[in-house]
Amino acid sequence: MAESERQATLEAARAQLRERLARGDDGPELLEDVCRILQRAVPWYDWVGIYLVEGEELVLAAWHGPAATEHVRIPIGQGICGAAARERRTIIVDDVNADPRYLQCFLSTRSEIVVPILRNDRVLGEIDIDSDRLAAFGPDDRELLEWLAGQLAERTAQESAGAA
Ligand code: SME
Repeated sequence: MAESERQATLEAARAQLRERLARGDDGPELLEDVCRILQRAVPWYDWVGIYLVEGEELVLAAWHGPAATEHVRIPIGQGICGAAARERRTIIVDDVNADPRYLQCFLSTRSEIVVPILRNDRVLGEIDIDSDRLAAFGPDDRELLEWLAGQLAERTAQESAGAA
């Protein structure tokens, strides 16, 4: 896909997210809506999930994609999801099969991005996206998803005083 087409796709996704966030309806369906918008708008986002921190675990709060994952609770520190929560930073893995931290959900997944949702340096949760394409995620994806995580941080209830 040409770089200009990638950019246009991500900007279209951002516009849809902005519209949804501007509605000001921050109930539990907000996270479902965000996952659905991303998964439908961006062809290389094959599975999109949002985990929220509960105690020492990440608990799957919303997802959109072709299949459910068995990893609905992930201890902080385990998997790429747990590493991003512990390190409080975005992790991009170009080839999941070459990363020993990887917890497999889907056989078709080739690359993954995990973006923590941070408020005052505390991890509230994270956005986790799996792609069936190798090295699907670049700085443009990171920028969009870190912006989104910032928006969600203002709207996400703080679940726990512990963790990370
Ligand atoms: N692959 C993740 C686990 C979550 S699934 O991708 C939905 C990981 O390594 O933490």
